[in-house]
Amino acid sequence: MANPDVSNGRRRFLTATTAVVGAVGAGFAAVPFIKSWQPSARAQGAGAPVFVDISKLEFGQRLDVQWRGKPVWVIRRSAEQLEQLAGLDERLRDPDSKNIEQQPEYARNAYRSIKPEVLVLVATCTHLGCVPLFKPELVAQPFDPNWKGGFYCPCHSSRFDIAGRVFQGVPAPSNLEVPPYRFADDKHLVIGVNPEGAA
Ligand code: FES
Repeated sequence: MANPDVSNGRRRFLTATTAVVGAVGAGFAAVPFIKSWQPSARAQGAGAPVFVDISKLEFGQRLDVQWRGKPVWVIRRSAEQLEQLAGLDERLRDPDSKNIEQQPEYARNAYRSIKPEVLVLVATCTHLGCVPLFKPELVAQPFDPNWKGGFYCPCHSSRFDIAGRVFQGVPAPSNLEVPPYRFADDKHLVIGVNPEGAA
């Protein structure tokens, strides 16, 4: 897993430099020109899809995006982080994502994502809407000695695993939301639209 200091530095760099632009209907051919194209504030408010370049997102890192006025995270998970998920079910409130409000059908799987390594989440706690902290390290934490990486909400101590699944015994009632999204290609996501053919 990446050194946390390096990750933090890289994260700031990535947040500052990654193109995040509206692109509905733009198509694949528009990608080389997309960095200079920002959606209007009005379009963003109306929920225009957001185009995200994930080509520089390394394992264990997170990108911050805004979609429909909400913070959204894009995280590239390592194989080590993904391996933790199967062993957590008994500690979780909804390990199988049975609450269908919290993710599209195509993200209703063990990883809560289209591709296992790339996680997309709305970054608001399902209790009262605070932004949780990203705690990807697989090390004991003050709030959980058996921590396997995930998200911790400092407002009232809700905890979520690295797929955004909520733990039992915390105030948050449901898993973190997965927004609609699709891959434009291996290096670009579009947040706010479903994959072709998906509901
Ligand atoms: S808002 Fe996150 S635990 Fe209350």
